[in-house]
Amino acid sequence: MNLKQIRDKARSLAKGACRVCPICDGRICAGEVPGMGGAGTGSSFRNNVAALNSILLYPRLIHSVHFPETSTRILGLDLSIPLMIAPIGGISFNVGAAMDEAEYQQAVTSGAIEAGIIAGTPDSAPDEVMKMGLAQAKKLGKGKIIPFIKPWEVELIQEKMEWCAKAGVEIVGCDLDSIGLITLRLMGKPAFAKSAEQLSDIVSKARALGLKIIIKGVMHPSDAEICAEAGVDAIVVSNHGGRVLDSAPATAAVLPLIREVVGGKLPILADGGIRSGVDILKMLALGADAVMIGRPYIIAAVGGGRQGVVLYTETLKAQLVQAMVMTGCRSIDEISSKALFAS
Ligand SMILES: Cc1cc2nc3c(=O)[nH]c(=O)nc-3n(C[C@H](O)[C@H](O)[C@H](O)COP(=O)(O)O)c2cc1C
Repeated sequence: MNLKQIRDKARSLAKGACRVCPICDGRICAGEVPGMGGAGTGSSFRNNVAALNSILLYPRLIHSVHFPETSTRILGLDLSIPLMIAPIGGISFNVGAAMDEAEYQQAVTSGAIEAGIIAGTPDSAPDEVMKMGLAQAKKLGKGKIIPFIKPWEVELIQEKMEWCAKAGVEIVGCDLDSIGLITLRLMGKPAFAKSAEQLSDIVSKARALGLKIIIKGVMHPSDAEICAEAGVDAIVVSNHGGRVLDSAPATAAVLPLIREVVGGKLPILADGGIRSGVDILKMLALGADAVMIGRPYIIAAVGGGRQGVVLYTETLKAQLVQAMVMTGCRSIDEISSKALFAS
């Protein structure tokens, strides 16, 4: 099985819900939420991809970097490359019943571990969705998945964090930007924004359960600062793949602004439009400590199951190695804005 066969199979199973385009850039699926697209005109999704494409790498060839080291340590996790699989919920209704929700979560969580990375798992209006991820947590062992909880009422977040702790989870996330998700509203269970005080409360509740907590969906430097002050363990600079607000900037555009404010205070992850190892290097050079990838893993898992997830991750690693050699970066720590060409 190669990536072309995986993509062909995913295209046929998705029956039009995902066209598996040559470049996954949100043009064809604009407005398809539920679905694979971005909200409204789809501009936020497209902005993510376009911003990364507009950034250029600066080749450097006189050095001694032959076999760069791609592994890194973040949040106490040893990763073979600075990458996590983004949490994806509603696989069956977003991708035309191409894959069962539990099957998808099994494929990404076990594939991630086999490839030396880790996957996020989703939460949704039906509790069963989160429980599927927690079943995987129990099966794979301590600290092997990162469940993301929706920004429900604080009491419900606490209850779900208790489920996580009992399942052997060590890091939880909360995708705060899900307050903009039309799918939760369609299911009659909207989520709501949190105040700085509520955020601090959620962090202390996580601590009391021995959990680290990541806040996903940060786009504004002020929100990033509040997260750092609340004692959050990491943030994900994300616009939910453009699914929660039309006309939002690209994550690659806001990342350096966020780095300026909270860099060094807490680890920064970023996602949105990352498709290749070259894109990973660009995001790291813009200020991320690690990245997340969403849609390409849906295609990999739907078309190739666990093996598809492993194969796509290995491809990303090979591309990252190549990009590190060509920019003279020996290790992940050595990747900086010097790897970028500023015209
Ligand atoms: C179909 C679909 C479902 C998603 N479900 C969730 C979710 O349940 N929780 C979450 O935090 N993010 C969710 N996301 C957003 C991803 O975690 C991630 O932020 C986004 O896909 C990154 O952009 P990319 O797809 O361009 O890589 C979803 C994205 C898609 C496309």
